[in-house]
Amino acid sequence: MIIEPVIKGVVARSCHPYGCQQAVRKQIDYVQQAKPIEHGAKRVLVLGASSGFGLASRIAHTFGGAEADTIGVSFERGPSEKGVGSAGWYNNIFFRQEAEKAGRIATNIVGDAFSQPVRQQVIEAINKDLGGQVDLVVYSLATGVRPNPETGEMWHSVIKTTGQPVVGPTLNLETDSLAEMTVEKATEQEIADTVKVMGGEDWADWIQCLSEAGVLAQGCRTVAYSYIGPEVTYPIYHHGTLGRAKEHMHTTADTLNTQLAAIGGQAHVAVCKALVTKASVFIPAFTPYMLALFKVMKQKGTHEGCIEQMQRLFNGRFYTLINHPQDVPTDEQRLIRMDDWELDPEVQQQVSEIMARMSAENFTELGDYAGYKQDFMALNGFGLAGVDYQQDISLDSLIVLQP
Ligand code: NAD
Ligand code: NA
Repeated sequence: MIIEPVIKGVVARSCHPYGCQQAVRKQIDYVQQAKPIEHGAKRVLVLGASSGFGLASRIAHTFGGAEADTIGVSFERGPSEKGVGSAGWYNNIFFRQEAEKAGRIATNIVGDAFSQPVRQQVIEAINKDLGGQVDLVVYSLATGVRPNPETGEMWHSVIKTTGQPVVGPTLNLETDSLAEMTVEKATEQEIADTVKVMGGEDWADWIQCLSEAGVLAQGCRTVAYSYIGPEVTYPIYHHGTLGRAKEHMHTTADTLNTQLAAIGGQAHVAVCKALVTKASVFIPAFTPYMLALFKVMKQKGTHEGCIEQMQRLFNGRFYTLINHPQDVPTDEQRLIRMDDWELDPEVQQQVSEIMARMSAENFTELGDYAGYKQDFMALNGFGLAGVDYQQDISLDSLIVLQP
């Protein structure tokens, strides 16, 4: 079969396995020529390792100077009669192949990270593959649902405001159009459920569980990723349901930091830049901001993707020669601000000017729509240089690839 892109709304319904391989290789190439990570963790567990910031954290640690062995957990779909499977499935496979070529261990665990069996599998893998301990736990899950362990029912996260409804243009990647959409006000229940799914509770459960199993090394650290953004986006993000969940995550970092101090460890949240990922395309009314932001940051030469953000986090901010908490640069809330270039006042001034003029008619010219769409296609392995998209690929040849 020839694998073609299929997009429904903002969801990609197909992916190109060898395009995903190429995208992983490109990230590896980037970190190999970037400023290397010094004093980095050698044994790393990444929860949410198959795409976005989690995959970039894993690549940075293995190939960007730390030479880390890793275990990656993700929820992905393999090939079947129904289709080729998900991009993250192939990212896992090709990352492991490259890591093994470089003499590194890369174990992939595919399953529900919220479940007890997957926690058990991870502990077994740490014992079997990483010599019994990890030095860093990256928490980079992004999902819309989490099972309630007591009832088996699902908590669903929603992307809504907590104040007035907001009307804003929202992108459709299938039709290349912007359409007016209303972001409604969430109920108290919806806020609470979103905090359950995207807040810090599961992160804390993981650290507790790993701690009880005795697999956290002396000095073990943990990091999770957050977004805050500029004031123009506060109504839909920072002051919305997702922002509430992130606030919970920030508080959780402080609790975990106190707990980990007992073994000389630390917990941080890194606040990242707005980027195109499988998760972020769902945020309604957010795209005009991102289109303007990409345009301005590219013009200024400060635009970064996931891999640039993660390599800069780990080669510049996160690790210090001696593991001293006071040496990690943070803001007064103890957050590591990787969104510093995004929030640069000059950038935000220009972004506001563009946004004020942006409409459904001119957004492809005023904003960086081409760049945004290219990033979205690349997430699914399409549009990458050096890939033969006319290649006839058999399902059997994909089924034999194991994570
Ligand atoms: P992503 O969709 O690219 O990655 C999510 C990962 O979680 C994937 O590996 C997926 O397989 C895994 N996952 C989801 N549900 C799972 C489950 N039940 N069990 C196991 N694995 C599961 O997302 P991302 O954008 O990289 O987001 C990661 C974090 O970064 C999130 O906390 C997000 O809020 C944050 N963040 C994102 C942005 C952005 O612009 N994209 C900006 C700042 C912060
Ligand atoms: Na991720």
